[in-house]
Amino acid sequence: MGSSEKWFIAMILCGLLCGLAIGALPKSPVDVSFERNYVPSWSSDHIKYINGGSEVQLVLDKYSGTGFQSKGSYLFGHFSMRMKMVGGDSAGVVTAFYLSSQGLEHDEIDFEFLGNRTGQPYIVQTNVFTGGKGDREHRIYLWFDPTKDYHSYSVLWNMYQIVFFVDDVPIRIFKNSKDIGVKFPFNQPMKIYSSLWNADDWATRGGLEKTDWSKAPFIASYTSFHIDGCDASTPQSTQVCSTRGKTWWDQKAFEDLDGLQYRKLAGVRQKFTIYNYCTDRSRYATVPPECVRDKDV
Ligand SMILES: *[C@@H]1O[C@H](CO)[C@@H](O)[C@H](O)[C@H]1NC(C)=O
Repeated sequence: MGSSEKWFIAMILCGLLCGLAIGALPKSPVDVSFERNYVPSWSSDHIKYINGGSEVQLVLDKYSGTGFQSKGSYLFGHFSMRMKMVGGDSAGVVTAFYLSSQGLEHDEIDFEFLGNRTGQPYIVQTNVFTGGKGDREHRIYLWFDPTKDYHSYSVLWNMYQIVFFVDDVPIRIFKNSKDIGVKFPFNQPMKIYSSLWNADDWATRGGLEKTDWSKAPFIASYTSFHIDGCDASTPQSTQVCSTRGKTWWDQKAFEDLDGLQYRKLAGVRQKFTIYNYCTDRSRYATVPPECVRDKDV
């Protein structure tokens, strides 16, 4: 075999194997500092910077919670943060990480972490709003204690799907079901937000468990403020971001989950799911169409 043939075979093998490797996971998060991508959005005095901003802490006390938001607005991409939730008695306290567009008929992709009494499990609630309509809650328990160590929480968003990940495990997908009449976020740029606030009117056991202010301040920690999105801060750039095929998240491998990811997702559905609007017949007498597409029913 000549060297050009070897080269050719190597290229084909890489085409197969390297493609598989990419398909297994979104690009790994990058350790970037807070200030590169984010600014405080309210109560900036309740944000503490550690190691020059490579780590930040959000502080909730009886006077205020706090929050931050991305500097840029994005149309599609991969967004992640490593977070360590409020430990100990965190009942009533909610930490959120979400993407949202502005305006009335807004799109939103939500992670909400509902605190609990010491030793009781956190619930992760996710939701997707399209064209101002939400009511698509999922609730799961995690397979680890999110207050002990940093874990990565991420969203992959392209023309084909929205995927919620906890570490490398997809916990939820929302496929583009425009063809069957379900709106999909495709033209409204979103900012990324995070906040920590008191929600003891609803969060823990439906509002029964109240925040114990003697345990304040409540602290959530963050690091690795990775954003790999199409910056759509101007109308021209929005146009560019909607043109497919230019970025890694538009490639074939990211149009759908792969087999391993579907198996992981199935595991979450079997073992960790508490609530899924798709199977709530008292709320939706007929199955919402996207649920069938998402293989949630
Ligand atoms: C808190 O713990 C209780 C008891 O284990 C559990 O029923 C509940 O789902 C947990 N989470 C929330 C947010 O209420």
